[in-house]
Amino acid sequence: MSDFSEVLVSENSIGRKLDEMAEAIRRDYEGQDLLLVGVLKGAVMVMADLARRMPPHVQMDWMAVSSYGSGTKSSGVVRILKDLDADLTGRHVLIVEDIIDTGVTLSWLLGNLRTRGAASVEVAALLRKPKAAVVEVPCKYVGFDIPPDFVVGYGLDFAENYRTLPFVAVLKPEVYEK
Ligand code: XMP
Ligand code: MG
Repeated sequence: MSDFSEVLVSENSIGRKLDEMAEAIRRDYEGQDLLLVGVLKGAVMVMADLARRMPPHVQMDWMAVSSYGSGTKSSGVVRILKDLDADLTGRHVLIVEDIIDTGVTLSWLLGNLRTRGAASVEVAALLRKPKAAVVEVPCKYVGFDIPPDFVVGYGLDFAENYRTLPFVAVLKPEVYEK
């Protein structure tokens, strides 16, 4: 029996959407020094596929923060598990996220990175759940607005599983309510 009730975003739609997002980003940052900041681990796939569509002097760095345990509910507590290697002073920073759910994690992260002297800090997210928003987060580039169901795949996990899927699917509640 499948663990998914529905494939929400297919591999092809993700690819086409990333083409559009990358074009907008390349245009907006043309001639500027851009640092992509990926949020581990969920953003690994979107970062890899977005970065491949960028010019060669666009750089990548990584942060790991935690707002969720292994479950599906936000704890509201954000911790830095791995900080950036890069100094942000004077740099244009684009946070690359898999998903904006309540917005709590990202709003905290934006606040944190904005104290580090960057020239600008913006956000690109592949997925966003507008109905789940608790905090409004200014997000310059959004792939897909989706319903507030728990989704997995393309980097997104449930208890570390399903990250390897090339598409985004809705996880059946009976899988995480077990
Ligand atoms: P908030 O609520 O702070 O959540 O915007 C951000 C982080 O929570 C994780 N998240 C999910 N992970 N399926 C997942 O696999 C989901 O539907 C989901 N919603 C939120 C994710 O790590 C995100 O960065
Ligand atoms: Mg997660």
